Parts: sequence; C-alpha cells; structure tokens
Amino acid sequence: MRKKASAWLALALGIGMALSGCSSSNSSSDNAKQGSQKAGEKLEIFSWWTGAGEEDGLKALIKLFQEKYPDIEVENAAVAGGAGTNAKAVLASRMQGNDPPSTFQVHGGAELNEGWVAAGKMEPLNDLYEKEGWMDKFPKALIDMVSKDGNIYSVPVNIHRGNVLWYNKKIFADNGLQPPKTFDEFFQVADKLKAKGITPLALGDKEPWAATHLFENVLLGTLGTENYKKLWTGELSFNDPQVKQAVETFKKMLNYINEDHSSRNWQDAAQLVAEGKAAMYVMGDWVKGYFVNDLKLKVNEDFGYVPVPNTEGKFMVITDTFGLPKGVKNPDDVKKFLAVLGSVEGQDAFNPLKGSIPARIDADPSKYDEYGKQTMQDFKTAELAPSLAHGSAAPEGFVTKVNQAVNIFVTQKDVKTFIDTLASAATELKK
Ligand code: GAL
Repeated sequence: MRKKASAWLALALGIGMALSGCSSSNSSSDNAKQGSQKAGEKLEIFSWWTGAGEEDGLKALIKLFQEKYPDIEVENAAVAGGAGTNAKAVLASRMQGNDPPSTFQVHGGAELNEGWVAAGKMEPLNDLYEKEGWMDKFPKALIDMVSKDGNIYSVPVNIHRGNVLWYNKKIFADNGLQPPKTFDEFFQVADKLKAKGITPLALGDKEPWAATHLFENVLLGTLGTENYKKLWTGELSFNDPQVKQAVETFKKMLNYINEDHSSRNWQDAAQLVAEGKAAMYVMGDWVKGYFVNDLKLKVNEDFGYVPVPNTEGKFMVITDTFGLPKGVKNPDDVKKFLAVLGSVEGQDAFNPLKGSIPARIDADPSKYDEYGKQTMQDFKTAELAPSLAHGSAAPEGFVTKVNQAVNIFVTQKDVKTFIDTLASAATELKK
C-alpha cells in the first residue's frame, strides 16, 4: 500500500514540478515566451527534445527553417523529460488555458486523435497536404495515424522503431555470444553474462515509461502483431493466458537488470551499455542518436542492434508529428514550418541525427548510416505495431494507468495484481 501511495505522490510531484517549470531546461525562454505570445510573432515550437541525444535533430530542422524564413522568429520551447514525461503535463495545462504553443510534438495515433483532435483543439491540414503534394509521399499507414473522420491533423517528422535490442559488441565478442533472437536465447545469454558478473540488461525507469517500453515489446514478441493490436481495441482481454505468459517473461527479465534502474533515465541506462557495464538494452532508436552524437560511438563497431527477441519482421512504430492548434495567432507561419518539416530536405536534416528514419517514402537513403538504411528497408516489409508507451496505441489516460501499474510491478512483481489492474483499466478502451 505504501509503495502504491508513494508512486502516486511521485507522479503528482512530477506533474507539479513540470507545471511550475522546474523541470524545464529552458525556463528563461519560458519567460521570453510570455512576451512573444502577446506580440503573436514568434513561432513557438514545443517538444521534449532537450539535451543528450534528443535535441540535435530539432536544432538542425530549426536551422533549415531559419535559413528559408529569416524573418520569422523561432522559439525552441522544449521541456525536458524523456517520452514527454513533463512536457505533456505542461502542454495540457496550456491547452486548457487556451494558450497553445504555435505547434507541438504529438505522437500519431490515439495521443493525437483521441486526445487533441477529439477535444476539438486542432485545425485540419488537408489543404497543406494537397498544396505540398504529400498524399502519396507518406505511407498510407502513417497518414491514417494522423487522421480522424477523413481529416488530417498533423505532419509526421519521423518514424522511430521501438523494438530494438542494442548490445555492447565487445562484451558479446569477449564472451563468444550471439545476440538473442528468441526469449529462450535471451535467458541463455543473460545467464552466461550474469555468471560472469556482467549486468545482462540495462533499464532506466526513473521515468516509468521506460519499463512500459520493455513490457510492450515483450507483449508484441509473445502475442504476435495481430493479438497485440487487439489488446488496444478491447478485442483481446488482458486476462488472456498469452498476456500472463508475457507478464511472466517480463518478470523473469527483471531478474537480470541493473540494481540502480529506478535512479536512471533512458540515457543513463544506455550509458551502462556504452561503458560496458551492461550488455543489452531494449529501447527505441533515439538511443542511436545518443550513442553516435553524444557518446561518439560507432554503429556496428561499438554497439550492435537486432530486433527485440521474438519480434523479427515486426516494427513497433513510434511517430513524432506536429500540427496546428486552434487559436494560434500565426497559422500561416506554422504552416510554413510544417511544410519544411514535411519536405524531403527537412526530414533528411532531422532524422539522420535523431536516430529515426524519415516518414516520407522519397527521402534520400544515402544520408543515413547502416542502421538507418537497414531500418528503412525493414519498415517496408515488416508488420507494423503501434507503441503504447509512445502514444499511438491507446489514449493518454490509459497509458498513464499502465505506466503506474508497470512501475509498481517492477518492485512488487505481483503478476495477478498487475494483470487485474491492466484488465480493469482496459474497460475504457473501445470495443
Ligand atoms: C518518444 C519520442 C522520441 C524520443 C523518446 C525519448 O516518445 O517519440 O522522439 O524523444 O520519446 O524521449
């Protein structure tokens, strides 16, 4: 009970901190923002891409925009915290107070459609898609993720892959190991590493979404794409034996993580693999941006990557998109920014640094490293699965409940309580 209460308290404090701006990395620009909002001139770009591994792509995109539109003043209004941990709370309070940023980062899928579009807060962008000739430039599956009732509401800047197992090449080579393809192989490898005193799996769930990220990958690997998708439409119950099997596998994995997982964020956990203190890490490919740009590691030399065990041929889709909120004072400037973000040039400035692949089908593969090229290929043929932890699969309210339940499960490891909580939260999902 006490643990449960403290998890709630931590969440409340986290949101409070975010709302008071304490966790924003750029509170000085927050002050500047208030002035600019009144003047209605600046283009305020709201995201959670601050700091290590996150901001390089955004800065490159802003630079490109400023070259094209030197007269439009841009404000990078990013609020720190992986997966939008703090930014989403700040955004919610601003939207509620009718003080929307000019444009903001939002995941395609339920986060956009069941959230801001359903609340009547977004302008349709069909005219922009027509004007820019985008209808056949983005994969249909992606356009569907940013559409509701025949209207399109945002522009995808990227596609991140969520089901990647990153591993330290040297540890694997020194121990004569191959990256695991199945959960059985994962546990064999993990046992060998553990016996040598090496932490098999890195986790940094100081922000609980990171553990949800691991869990959703185990769900995908256990249930397969079709059944995994049915969980979010209410067609498959969380009481299904396959879910229990996934939870047992997830629980077993937790025997192989670093002890200090709850004090690390996703970058700190990635660092364990970079420094050879842990062997493997399940995380989206923003990690590649962090490894390469910030830690100066080399793709396929210092670190390797394979699909998460049991998920070869599957692609956990995460797409960051930007739209036009209702009521902004500079809609034409916002559309100019969205046009750059959705252009080949914009996507190829952003994605090679971000770790993601371009959302457009006609981007230039030569701008991408081996990892990017491979991922672009994989995306074309893989079964696509929407990420829960990153907003596509289910509405924000449900994701928050899952994050809380996962956070408690990681410490208490009570399978029945966890499944009961998920099943009761799922009653709000659409049938
Ligand atoms: C995701 C987002 C990514 C990356 C990651 C870590 O939700 O889609 O672009 O920023 O969070 O913060």
